[in-house]
Amino acid sequence: MALLEVKNLSYRFPDGTWALKDISFSLNTSEFLVISGKNGSGKTMLLRCLKGLCRPQEGTISIAGTVASRRVRREIGLVFQDTDSQLVAQTVERDIAFGLEQMGLPDDEINSRVHAALNQMDLFSHRRQRPRTLSGGEKRRLTIAGVLAMDPSIIALDEPFANLDYPSVIHVLEHIVSLRGQGHTVIVVTHEVEKVLAHADRLMLLDQGKLVAEGKPDEVIIHAPACGVRIPPGVTAGEMTWLKP
Ligand SMILES: Nc1ncnc2c1ncn2[C@@H]1O[C@H](COP(=O)(O)OP(=O)(O)O)[C@@H](O)[C@H]1O
Ligand SMILES: [Mg+2]
Repeated sequence: MALLEVKNLSYRFPDGTWALKDISFSLNTSEFLVISGKNGSGKTMLLRCLKGLCRPQEGTISIAGTVASRRVRREIGLVFQDTDSQLVAQTVERDIAFGLEQMGLPDDEINSRVHAALNQMDLFSHRRQRPRTLSGGEKRRLTIAGVLAMDPSIIALDEPFANLDYPSVIHVLEHIVSLRGQGHTVIVVTHEVEKVLAHADRLMLLDQGKLVAEGKPDEVIIHAPACGVRIPPGVTAGEMTWLKP
């Protein structure tokens, strides 16, 4: 049984514009899915619907066979593109603890999860720093740490490489690849496929809110240019990574 099953999902804005039209796909445990498409193709709206932040007019979202929006909300951890909107507390460690406090976990459990997430995302030495004073890459790692600490079934990252310099992209990418190596189920939404696609099991391409192609990256990538997604010339899907071999 698929971990995530999306069936005939459609979302329309109040002004009547369709953001998503009849999207269906599934995701298995421990899979790494890349969702791409040009600006405005509906990638962020798809993640928001998955997370339960907006209510689709049509379709269903199931996790482990159960259709239930509240459960979906908890099981999917969403790392927003705009990091500042996800930072809430006065220190890095308080920021990671915030989501866990909302979950009502006991203090011991919160402390050990915060500690583990700080170490995993290489943020331990920054634990008493104010989140606003972190670099772009550190902020991105902090928002990932906050989501990771909540132990969701699926970690979804919206444009995780946006606004990062070269070393920060590498650092964030290393962490995303290692999450996958630890058996997490990962969704990365990006228009920058050349940075990450080599690590993905599957690629989905969106255009104008529709799912244009879905499948193994090396089979789907030929449709990328028609969807407005740049691919470097002469490079196969398996070679698209910014990590050194
Ligand atoms: N409140 C809104 N009303 C109407 N259209 C909107 C609204 N918010 C976003 N859109 C449109 O929805 C489309 C999909 O946006 P989005 O999912 O953010 O795209 P992506 O993340 O792929 O860049 C865009 O064309 C955007 O202009
Ligand atoms: Mg977006």
